[in-house]
Order: sequence, then C-alpha cells, then structure tokens
Amino acid sequence: MKRRIQRIGIVTAGGDCPGLNAVIRGVVKTAQNDYGVEVFGIRDGFVGMVTYKGDERGKILTNRDASGILAVGGTILGTARGDVFEAAGTKEGDYSIFEEAFSSMKIDALICTGGDGTQRMAQKLHTHGFPVVGIPKTIDNDLMETDVTFGFNSAVTIIMEAIDNLHSTAMSHHRALVVEVMGRDVGWLALVAGVAGGGDVILIPETPYEEQAIFDCALERSRKGKRFSIVVVAEGVKPNDKNAPQKEIARYLSSLIEKETGIETRPVILGHLQRGGPPTAFDRILATQFAVKAVDLVMEGRFGEMAAIQGNDFVSVPISQATKGLKRVPLDHPLIRSAVSVGTSFGSREIDKRQKDKS
Ligand code: F6P
Repeated sequence: MKRRIQRIGIVTAGGDCPGLNAVIRGVVKTAQNDYGVEVFGIRDGFVGMVTYKGDERGKILTNRDASGILAVGGTILGTARGDVFEAAGTKEGDYSIFEEAFSSMKIDALICTGGDGTQRMAQKLHTHGFPVVGIPKTIDNDLMETDVTFGFNSAVTIIMEAIDNLHSTAMSHHRALVVEVMGRDVGWLALVAGVAGGGDVILIPETPYEEQAIFDCALERSRKGKRFSIVVVAEGVKPNDKNAPQKEIARYLSSLIEKETGIETRPVILGHLQRGGPPTAFDRILATQFAVKAVDLVMEGRFGEMAAIQGNDFVSVPISQATKGLKRVPLDHPLIRSAVSVGTSFGSREIDKRQKDKS
C-alpha cells in the first residue's frame, strides 16, 4: 500500500561539497510547488538526526528558506560523519533511534543526500523498512550506477584553476610541483582535473607507478627546455616504499623527485579548498535535477532508490547497486588515452606505451 506523504525529511551527510544547497532548494521547492508537501530539514547529518532532541533537530523549510542559497557552497543544514549508533550511545543495529527520529519529526519519507557512506546508511535504513530515497553527492565521483555525482565538477574546476596558477610559479622557478588532490581511494579528480589543467604526470590509485618513469618525464622535459613539471597525484596513491609515511604522498614524491633528478621540487596539498565555494553551473543544474527526481521518487513510493544520471537521462537505480563497490577509473577510459596522446605520463611505462600503441 502506498503511504500518504505529507512531510519529507532531508538530510545532508558525510563530507560537504558545492551543490548541497542547490539540492535542498530543489527538494523544498519541488515538494511544495508540485505536490503541496512539507520538507523538514534535518541538522548535521544522520548523527544530528539521532542525537539532537526537539527543535535542535531541524525545522520545516519554507520556500523563503530555500531562496538565495543556490549559489552558496556547503550545506545550510550542516553535516557530520561518524557512527550513528555510537553517537546515539546505543548498540550497533538498534534502529529504534531512527523510529524515534522519524516519528518525532513527523516525516513520512527521508531523502538522503550523500556519498558512499551516506548511501550505505540509506540502504541499511531501507532494509529495515524505512522509506528512503538517495541523491548522489561526492567530489570523489566514486558512486556506482551514476555517470557523475554533484560536487565533482566544482572540485575539478577548483583543482584546474589551482594547477593553472601553479604553472606560472613552477615556470618562474624552474621547479617541479607535486599537487596532491582528494578522491579518497579513486583517481577521478586527479585524472579529470589533471587533464583539464595540463598536468605533465598524473598518478591515480587504480594503477601502480614507477618512480623512474616520473623522474624520466621531468628530466626529459628539462632536456627539451621545458624547465618545470606539474605532477598531479591522487591522495589514494600509496608510496612504493612500504616504510614511508602512507599519508601526504605529495611530500614523499616531492623529496624523492628532488633527490633523484636534482630538480627543485615542492609539494602542494590542496586539501579542503577542493570542497569549498560556490557550485559550478554544471553542478547547480545536476543538483537541481537530482532534487526534482528524488522528490518524484518519494511521491511515487519508489523507496530504496537513488536518483542518477546515465547518459543524458535522469533515472533511478537501487541504492543497493550504487553501493555494491566503488566506481574506480577503468584503465581503458578514453580520457587516459587522450591524455597520453597529448604527452601526459601516468608514471608507468607500461600504460604510457599501451595507450600510445592504441593511437
Ligand atoms: O569523500 C570526500 C573527501 O573530501 C575525500 O576526497 C577525502 O579523502 C575526505 O573526504 C576528507 O574527509 P574529511 O573532510 O573528513 O577530512
């Protein structure tokens, strides 16, 4: 039996990114304008949902609350990471904390806006009978079943602009710069922003790198009179030396490149800059369309599904499928081939050669 929807809850959970407010705006306006349904904005992610009490938990969002936030970065609702059961001081799997939250907020359905961790939580809630729908968000772009997540394009743009700016200082000082970008365990940000910014070497976790291939690339460029190099490295790349610190790969590679090539080298770790600021036009549009799709899914009673984009179509996919693994960069991705064709190295003679042979 279809449940009657009078009030939809919306939660933004996990790491923030540009476009979250565009989603909140899209959900509030679509629910009210198209369906005459209220939206309850939940504060500080799932953790806030199960730990805050009374008015602290959030509030009904009106059209007025949703006005003027499209271009604003972050989330007006706040977000949080962490284990909900631990935060609520209860045992793992005690879903009564969510029953209490649903009933005290009087919500008939919940839109879960977030990345991999958030969607896995949403899937657990769905399995336990809660009416949830997902919206895919993450700068990492690692959710399966959707071509892209919102937040990714904004982060790519920030990284590309940073690489653009780093070119002039690298050129002036004849240095190599090793730019570390986010992405957790996958290389989408490094690949796409690295190509957009014209990185000379791009290192992604999906494939091992050879140190010598990186040195050779920087030395070869110097020999040709290009006395600077930009190495873009994904944070998920691990040093080949197992005894080296496993974090901040840029520092490790930077000192190695300097030692082995004699080229002065500096690390640049972009960090949370990549998640800040206003969303790009692409992300505002994507977020808005995901929001409209998610409200439609709720009103159609299609719980356990996530809004997604496949090709030019906005579709819905089971959250269980979107979270069955991480969407990693396939090594036959056309962008890798294009990057190699324009002279970018992936720090692996094998890949560089294989891609060249294809062209
Ligand atoms: O998942 C988004 C992300 O920005 C990753 O790229 C990064 O590894 C992680 O979150 C950083 O998390 P935090 O903001 O908790 O430091």
